[in-house]
Amino acid sequence: MAFTPASRAAVTDLSRLPEDELRVRVLARPRPRHIAIIMDGNGRWATRRGLPRVAGHHQGVKAVRETVRVAGELGVEYLTLYAFSSENWQRPENEVSFLMTLLERTIDGELPDLQAKNVRFRVIGRPDGIPPRVRRRVDHVVAETAANTGLTLVLALNYGARDELVDAVRRLAEEVRGGARDPGEIDEAAVSRALYTDGIPDPDLLIRTSGEMRVSNFLLWQIAYTELWVTPTLWPDFGGRDLCVAVADYQRRDRRFGRV
Ligand code: FPP
Repeated sequence: MAFTPASRAAVTDLSRLPEDELRVRVLARPRPRHIAIIMDGNGRWATRRGLPRVAGHHQGVKAVRETVRVAGELGVEYLTLYAFSSENWQRPENEVSFLMTLLERTIDGELPDLQAKNVRFRVIGRPDGIPPRVRRRVDHVVAETAANTGLTLVLALNYGARDELVDAVRRLAEEVRGGARDPGEIDEAAVSRALYTDGIPDPDLLIRTSGEMRVSNFLLWQIAYTELWVTPTLWPDFGGRDLCVAVADYQRRDRRFGRV
């Protein structure tokens, strides 16, 4: 969709609707199967309140909880959240260690609720580098929820799209070297299957909070034809209502996938 003053006004119109009306509107039309979110703005949220940056991450967990709940209620099949990028290790050590502990505690503490909501939990990213105590909890929740049939919640953890492509190329090269694959047989489907997201459809909608207009090394292969939606709202302030506005806006778009 072209970003014009008219389209900006249309989004404003949607955000003025009461939440229940928005939900009725969203539920009346096909929803995106897969929504991916770059959760940005936690640090700014905290700094604006005179709080340490980590307070923004703490508050961000509440937004995660609400987004997972509402995505499930809307019948979204996959929700991918960018929780920790491969570049995030360069943050101050206290922030990295706070985030790891927050992830460990949150993932563990949410297990009963994920089960109650029939959510399947999955992780994408390089496992190395993640503290073993966090990995153990993550693996436990992945295993415990593996048979659930509702929303699949995909957490991008120590994730970088370029790392993912490098890992996929290495995997395919190993298969060629081992004689299991002919180079001429490597097509788009083979590359997709070699990515961490094997078996997950490409995102239909990518949401980024806090207004930055970039994709930050997130799902670069998978978002080739994804619809983008950027909101100035900071992640800790993002809620079910914002998700409905994004989906309602998505539902008005004409997806052409390069065709006319
Ligand atoms: C970006 O905000 C946010 C992150 C790097 C971390 C995201 C983590 C959470 C929302 C909490 C834990 C999540 C789960 C799934 C339990 P930023 O710090 O870059 O904000 P800034 O751009 O304002 O500095």
